Amino acid sequence: MNSKTRTRVLTGITTTGTPHLGNYVGAIRPTVQASRDLGTDGFYFLADYHALIKCDEPSRIQRSTLEIAASWIASGLDPEKVTFYRQSDIPEIPELTWLLTCVTGKGVLNRAHAYKASVDKNHDAGKDTDADVTAGLFMYPVLMGADILMFKAHKVPVGRDQIQHIEMARDMASSFNHLYGEHFVLPEAVVEESVALLPGLDGRKMSKSYDNTIPLFAPAAQMRKQIAGIVTDSKAPGEPKATEGSALFQIYQAFASTDETAAMARAYADGIGWGDAKQMLFERIDQEIAPMREQYQALINNPAQMDQLLLAGADKARQLATPFMRELRQAVGLRPLSSMAMAASKTDTKAAQPSFKQYREKDGRFYFKFVDAKGQVLLKSLGFDSPKEAGQTIAELQALGAQGLSDLSHTLEPISSEIRAQIVENLRIL
Ligand code: TRP
Repeated sequence: MNSKTRTRVLTGITTTGTPHLGNYVGAIRPTVQASRDLGTDGFYFLADYHALIKCDEPSRIQRSTLEIAASWIASGLDPEKVTFYRQSDIPEIPELTWLLTCVTGKGVLNRAHAYKASVDKNHDAGKDTDADVTAGLFMYPVLMGADILMFKAHKVPVGRDQIQHIEMARDMASSFNHLYGEHFVLPEAVVEESVALLPGLDGRKMSKSYDNTIPLFAPAAQMRKQIAGIVTDSKAPGEPKATEGSALFQIYQAFASTDETAAMARAYADGIGWGDAKQMLFERIDQEIAPMREQYQALINNPAQMDQLLLAGADKARQLATPFMRELRQAVGLRPLSSMAMAASKTDTKAAQPSFKQYREKDGRFYFKFVDAKGQVLLKSLGFDSPKEAGQTIAELQALGAQGLSDLSHTLEPISSEIRAQIVENLRIL
């Protein structure tokens, strides 16, 4: 397969904390597995510009970047086979962010979940709508759009809470393409249904913000101690226990095979004591993690080597980003002034034919217009549910001519009789 047809998979992790088992099961492990798929090209990065939105402790961001990078590598990500980099090593990303900012509706960003959550919280507290909201938080989806669109990613593995951001990136891409030509690939979110949302020590979703996490690479003794702290009910050894709603069981399941999980379910029914169940859980996790722990420590102890590795990744990434950014600057008109005459003559030849143009509007629907050789719009469609429907209607119009204009009038904006003659004429030239 050549690079044009290979699927590009891209994802990032925000560098604000120490990776925990939830990050491992939900993000790190599945992306490492996906990166081994030979039919895809992987782009994996440390979203440290995003970290600035949530965290104003410089040393924490620095530390987290090292820890997440080391976790990814220790978990088996092969930087030779994928492009592995730090977002802030790619100056083209903030540059693209600005171009996308200029094609993104402010109203669209008003509806982003993360921003809306802050606004709702402020309302509930009787505060000003945007109290404590930075413009960074507001712009979060645009920066993320730049991450994705820069590398023409087809698939973006993310958690459910991020789906909206991928949809926004698609909209930015189609607005830009509509205005400036086909430059961007429209990305798709991939949400692994089978990937468990891991519960934390208290049974709620494992998350830094609940302070209920088990660090991925804590020393074995510490991990055992933390596992002992997972909440259970107060049933005594010998009493049958329910697997349903048991955080301990769910965490076990995320690491165990189907057979092992079935055996644990039987042990529950047979009344295994919580102490024994916790020991089994610790052993099962440690069996997977222990072999990686040593490499993780070695990487943490050698940050200069990690710097090097990430800079090499950034070099690789920029081999795509730098020329692409040049292309995009050219497309929007940030170009050498001396290219003016050339460009003008180019558009002239390009416009020498009437043509149909398909596009997508802010309402999410698909449209087309028909323009004459001078670029004057003769005909506009109403919205279609899919690009395919729009395409079919274009094909029918081309095939049927004047008759098509009447038959398909319910899909078109009203046409005056004068323009109608021009359309028919231009359809004939096509
Ligand atoms: N917003 C993502 C998160 O918090 C991290 C992220 C930043 C990302 N840029 C991205 C994920 C691009 C996928 C693609 O989980």
